[in-house]
Amino acid sequence: MYNSKITGLGFYVPENVVTNDDLSGLMDTDDAWIQERTGIKERHWIPKNSDDTSAVMGAKAAKIAIRKAGLTKDDIDFIVFATLSPDYFFPGCGVQIQEMLEMDTIGAIDIRNQCSGFVYALSTADQFIKTGMYKNILVIGAEFHSNGLDKTTRGRGVSVIFGDGAGACILSRTEDNKKGILSSHLHSEGKHADKLIVESPSINNWVPEIIDSKGEDISFYPYMDGTFVFKHAIVRFSEVIMEGLAANNLSPSDIDLFIPHQANLRISQFVQHKFKLSDDQVYNNIMNYGNTTAASIIIALSEAFEKGLIKDNDLVVLAAFGSGFTWGSVVIRW
Ligand code: COA
Repeated sequence: MYNSKITGLGFYVPENVVTNDDLSGLMDTDDAWIQERTGIKERHWIPKNSDDTSAVMGAKAAKIAIRKAGLTKDDIDFIVFATLSPDYFFPGCGVQIQEMLEMDTIGAIDIRNQCSGFVYALSTADQFIKTGMYKNILVIGAEFHSNGLDKTTRGRGVSVIFGDGAGACILSRTEDNKKGILSSHLHSEGKHADKLIVESPSINNWVPEIIDSKGEDISFYPYMDGTFVFKHAIVRFSEVIMEGLAANNLSPSDIDLFIPHQANLRISQFVQHKFKLSDDQVYNNIMNYGNTTAASIIIALSEAFEKGLIKDNDLVVLAAFGSGFTWGSVVIRW
């Protein structure tokens, strides 16, 4: 069996920055509430006149990652694209990347696991490399949230949290079995699907039905029971980090850098304190990007790597929790 390691990273966010004060102009909210509850100061939102979409941003991030890996598009064997905000209901964004990057007719799949999307995507790619099926896989997480949010006071509990952006990495085969992805652990609990959901349009409640409701039906906006999600997130984050560490006979003190999904700074801080991690052992950037769902871990990983915070042989732990519910962790020896 082979091992897989990350050989290239890249990310892209739209230039347009939306501050908490900007949001106060759209809805009844304020900078103090948002910062106190979430840690978020600003996020990037695609402006109306832009061509950016999840796939377009994903392609931009992918080109950087391929270049940083010292590869060309022709070296990529497979595409794994994680998003909850695809350009189309179908087909998925993965096949758009194949076309946008003018790649050969390689396979492409989309991962539909929301905030855990990147962890699921990385784990999926890892399995293809471990079995020897592929050598270099392009893994992307991208989200275009802003156009689908309820930006009125009615939607403020959700809309202030989410940002747009994309990140990508190249996962490559390595013969060194002490380096790269050591383990991944994935979980789900579908009974809580309705706690964080975009319900429509669905086949049961398609566009004509929504139009017929004359504005009554707003189930196309994301719904979140924030308190319920928060309580489950802190438990599941903790469990799945310990599961990953235990599988490798490691303990929290062995972690060089923990990169949690950027859901809420308070969730990250809870986990940090629980595992007695120093500020240097945890990377957060939700302050500047908000929650970018499937893109958040890969944007944070790319940024941390660019800042020189990840060195050869470091133990890097990724963990996520989100809608589904889904959660997971990946333990990497860099
Ligand atoms: N600005 C101002 N007030 C707001 C607001 C906003 N943007 N959003 C909600 N409020 C109000 C609510 O209306 C409520 O008012 P009320 O008490 O008069 O009814 C009050 O603030 C408290 O709302 P509540 O939802 O209980 O706040 P909270 O402390 O639970 O914080 C979240 C809300 C969303 C920040 C928090 O629950 C959370 O972060 N949950 C986890 C979310 C998450 O991680 N999601 C991604 C999953 S990966």
